[in-house]
Amino acid sequence: TNIILLGPPGAGKGTQARKLVEERDMVQLSTGDMLREAKASGSEMGKRVAEVMERGELVTDEIVIGLIEEKLTSGGGGGGFIFDGFPRTLPQADALRELLDRVGLSLDAVIEMRCNDEALVSRITGRYTCGDCGEGYHETAKPTTRDGVCDVCGSTNMKRRADDNEETLRSRLMEYYKNTSPLIGYYYAKGQLKSIDGLAEIDEVAASIAEAMG
Ligand code: AP5
Ligand code: ZN
Repeated sequence: TNIILLGPPGAGKGTQARKLVEERDMVQLSTGDMLREAKASGSEMGKRVAEVMERGELVTDEIVIGLIEEKLTSGGGGGGFIFDGFPRTLPQADALRELLDRVGLSLDAVIEMRCNDEALVSRITGRYTCGDCGEGYHETAKPTTRDGVCDVCGSTNMKRRADDNEETLRSRLMEYYKNTSPLIGYYYAKGQLKSIDGLAEIDEVAASIAEAMG
């Protein structure tokens, strides 16, 4: 099964993708993670995108399509792919369709995770992540069991993202409404859209996704 998780910043795409990777052996393709890896590697492209990301703007279609193409053509999607944070523009959606055709894969569902802005602000400003295994946490919704110690790997190296502040979040939300929300209509028209309540608790959201995947 190949799915897109579509939703604004903080909707829970990464959280749910990680669960699907664990439970269904799917492969998570997060363009945000790929871009942060490029930044951490110190590559030329990484340097160029870091500033764009810190302003909360979208990186060019060309760069993210290239990243996805690289992953899709190198195979390895046992339980299928989860597109997390991609596509984010209509040209990206068209490019994804072409790429999937080329490698002979189908797109089985586009899951829209509906949220409201208020919830998104508190999710983003309360978010932290384990710097070693990547597990995501939240100050109130999903804190570590022991203060500052990762439940998964025991690391104490907790990180916050450079773009997780209220000001940058405002531009990320603007970008979402302007460039990404048109994809809701695009996939609805193709009969592929499934909308779920992203405001529910993490396990309830997971159950809605499972149902939407059939
Ligand atoms: P990206 O990394 O994709 O960030 P995003 O879309 O802003 O999404 P987030 O990762 O912030 O949120 P999420 O939905 O994954 O939420 P999470 O599960 O962590 O993109 C970053 C930047 O990269 C972009 O701004 C852009 O510059 C660039 N970029 C990336 N892709 C691009 C593309 N295709 N084209 C162009 N540019 C691109 O959850 C958030 C918090 O809430 C966590 O703390 C979590 O524990 C908590 N939480 C999760 N679910 C629940 C729940 N159900 N109830 C309560 N709390 C919850
Ligand atoms: Zn960890």
